[in-house]
Amino acid sequence: MKDDIFDSREDYIRALFGRETAAQKSARESLTGAHDGISLHAEEARTLQLLIRLGDIRMIVEIGTLGGYSALAMAAALPDDGRLWTLEKDPARAALARSNTAAEKRIKIIEGDARETLRTLESQAPFDMIFIDADKLNYAYYLDWAETHVRKGGLIVGDNTLLFDAVWMQERPPRVRDSALQAMRDFNRRLADPDKYLGTLLPTAEGMTIAQKLF
Ligand SMILES: C[S@@+](CC[C@H](N)C(=O)[O-])C[C@H]1O[C@@H](n2cnc3c(N)ncnc32)[C@H](O)[C@@H]1O
Repeated sequence: MKDDIFDSREDYIRALFGRETAAQKSARESLTGAHDGISLHAEEARTLQLLIRLGDIRMIVEIGTLGGYSALAMAAALPDDGRLWTLEKDPARAALARSNTAAEKRIKIIEGDARETLRTLESQAPFDMIFIDADKLNYAYYLDWAETHVRKGGLIVGDNTLLFDAVWMQERPPRVRDSALQAMRDFNRRLADPDKYLGTLLPTAEGMTIAQKLF
């Protein structure tokens, strides 16, 4: 009984469903200062793992690598011959991720602005899944790309899609720019179209929109 009591709902869920591999733990610990705390939480990573297993996902594109935490979690759920390309524009973060993921052969880190580097992946399309976790203003661009390069029946997942709850609030919080707010509202609206997607927005800490592509 005592073991089941926690200070918050998140702590309870994390204690049960947030177990991390040693590689994930060390990737999280490698992030300090400004980098700290913007990786997925362990239980969110678990959600992606479940989607990968249930959706028979083998080829994933991730936009926004940081230190490789989410990439390591997703790769662990892939079959042995699966592949995950993860795109990071910041050279220092890409280098850190290369070191954190060196033992995981299914991960390929592509350094550079995703708006440029996505093009280099097009010859390998169609992909089974895209995970978008980067600059908010480009979510529409990434979704356009996914609509062309993710297979019918594949998954499109976006993180931070509640945008600190700004997406549904009457008053925009000062920390959120209007351009980012409009971008995120448009992204969610597009994935809510039942003619094109079977989707939902999971109320995780940051909000995670997940959608199966129907066309
Ligand atoms: C929230 S972090 C990613 C966290 C990571 N997915 C995880 O959970 O471990 C967002 C990352 O996207 C990168 N980023 C932002 N804009 C980008 C762009 N245009 N192209 C590639 N990477 C970008 C940032 O440098 C940052 O490292």
